[in-house]
Amino acid sequence: MAARGSALAGFIAVSCLVAATAAARPAFLTLPGERPDDFKGDIWALLIAGSAGWGNYRHQADVLHAYQVLRHGGVKEDNIVVMVQDDLIDNPFNPHPGKIFNRPGGSNVAAGVKPDYTGAAVNSKTFLSVLQGEQTYTAIGSSGKTIKSGPEDRVFVYFADHGAPGILGMPNGAFLYADELLGALANKSAANGFRDMVLYIEACESGSIFEGMLDDSMDIYATTASNAYESSWGTYCPGMDRPPPPEFTTCLGDLYSVAFLENSERYDLREESLDKQYQRVRRRTSNNGTYAMGSHVMQYGSLTIDAEPVADYLGAANTGDGSAENGLLGATDGEDEPVMGALPQREADLLPLWLAVQRAAPGAPRAAARAELAAVLDTRRAVDEAARGTMAALLSQPAVLAALQAKYAYVNLLLPAAALQDSNAAAEVAAPVVEQFVSAPLPRAAGLPLVDDWSCLRAMVGAWEAGCGKLDQYGMQYTRLFANLCNAGIGAQDMATAAARTCRASALAA
Ligand SMILES: *[C@@H]1O[C@H](CO)[C@@H](O)[C@H](O)[C@H]1NC(C)=O
Ligand SMILES: *[C@@H]1O[C@H](CO)[C@@H](O)[C@H](O)[C@H]1NC(C)=O
Repeated sequence: MAARGSALAGFIAVSCLVAATAAARPAFLTLPGERPDDFKGDIWALLIAGSAGWGNYRHQADVLHAYQVLRHGGVKEDNIVVMVQDDLIDNPFNPHPGKIFNRPGGSNVAAGVKPDYTGAAVNSKTFLSVLQGEQTYTAIGSSGKTIKSGPEDRVFVYFADHGAPGILGMPNGAFLYADELLGALANKSAANGFRDMVLYIEACESGSIFEGMLDDSMDIYATTASNAYESSWGTYCPGMDRPPPPEFTTCLGDLYSVAFLENSERYDLREESLDKQYQRVRRRTSNNGTYAMGSHVMQYGSLTIDAEPVADYLGAANTGDGSAENGLLGATDGEDEPVMGALPQREADLLPLWLAVQRAAPGAPRAAARAELAAVLDTRRAVDEAARGTMAALLSQPAVLAALQAKYAYVNLLLPAAALQDSNAAAEVAAPVVEQFVSAPLPRAAGLPLVDDWSCLRAMVGAWEAGCGKLDQYGMQYTRLFANLCNAGIGAQDMATAAARTCRASALAA
């Protein structure tokens, strides 16, 4: 399967301002009225929520909802693996114990779900093993199910969580790095572990997982909630248009996820192609083309696969009868998609804390809620300051400064010439360079992955964490800074020194 994939490098957008536009499929690939291929195998699905905690309710809700869609579609229970922290059903904040909802007025998406991996078993290592069909995790409480798909089978992988450049979050242990995911996909492909595979990824900067990483050689097709440079968005949050019932203090869903899930309930998936679903989901996730509250849904990999019906991945009994989760949102053709309220992922987490302050009784309860919110904001501020402090410390090292000057022209543009003669002075006038490194996207050329050397990125994260503490779902955004340093040939040892020095006096240090 080749064709459009070869044009991929050309159309990948390098700016969050530019939506990717897929070229039209050559007409010869499908004859009128003919399905692009006959599907003889089985469907397998791996569904994972990479987060935990009440503030991240929406990710597990999305994943449980996906399970309902697959089951409604007729996909066998034995072929679906669900990985969720499972800390919400009995969560003290849950106003409806035993139930989880993914949209206002929707049905309980936890009904009948027996998650296969929960708690500490939800980690990147187990995920990669399960995906490759390796039964390595045998802890009590896990089903041990894995994706034992064969050469005729189709595999659907869905992930919902926080992300950051080059990484996906996990509720336990290390991040999942793009090169590890791609390595597992390559292994499974080499082992004839599927006919075609489709991945749907909801996470911030999720385009960075596949950009320059997934070509058209493996019969794998992926769509992501956002491009490599932008947030993905939570939705159905308290206080926005289409709010959850007032007893909820957290968002129920994510914009891209509910767009594809509700679309899958609305339409006859035997008729709807993956490409059609992509077009509809892209439109809805853009919030009616405004991108004011929304992101650029992207496509990667073997794009010819998108001519296949969605039913081949989510089940042929999804015929649009709407009975799965009464999914009646999402426009039909010719209508506008609904415009939804939305919040960037990293702000959506704060909502429950902020609402707790609003709703607490005056006096001690409100002061306690306020202190809890303030503590989280303080930690975020400390991470932001540490990233800037570390970058300034790096710039004060002559060898590092020289390497950055050689790699990035703007270092010379932003630092006055006199400062460049003297690396100590450079550190003092380096604020704009620091800011550029820490917060600006620094797009790489189209078709290049985030980082040339993924081991360097892992080592940089390790070096940072040794000095400044574990990167959390907020701090993880600084992987782009680390990647840009790696791409200039800066090593983890320099990071270790700078981070240790910067964070020695910081509350972040472990
Ligand atoms: C892919 O297979 C190789 C060889 O068996 C193995 O060393 C590697 O860890 C696998 N990759 C992943 C991501 O599991
Ligand atoms: C969506 O955008 C179209 C074209 O810009 C506009 O005419 C329409 O009113 C918008 N719909 C909503 C619901 O905002």
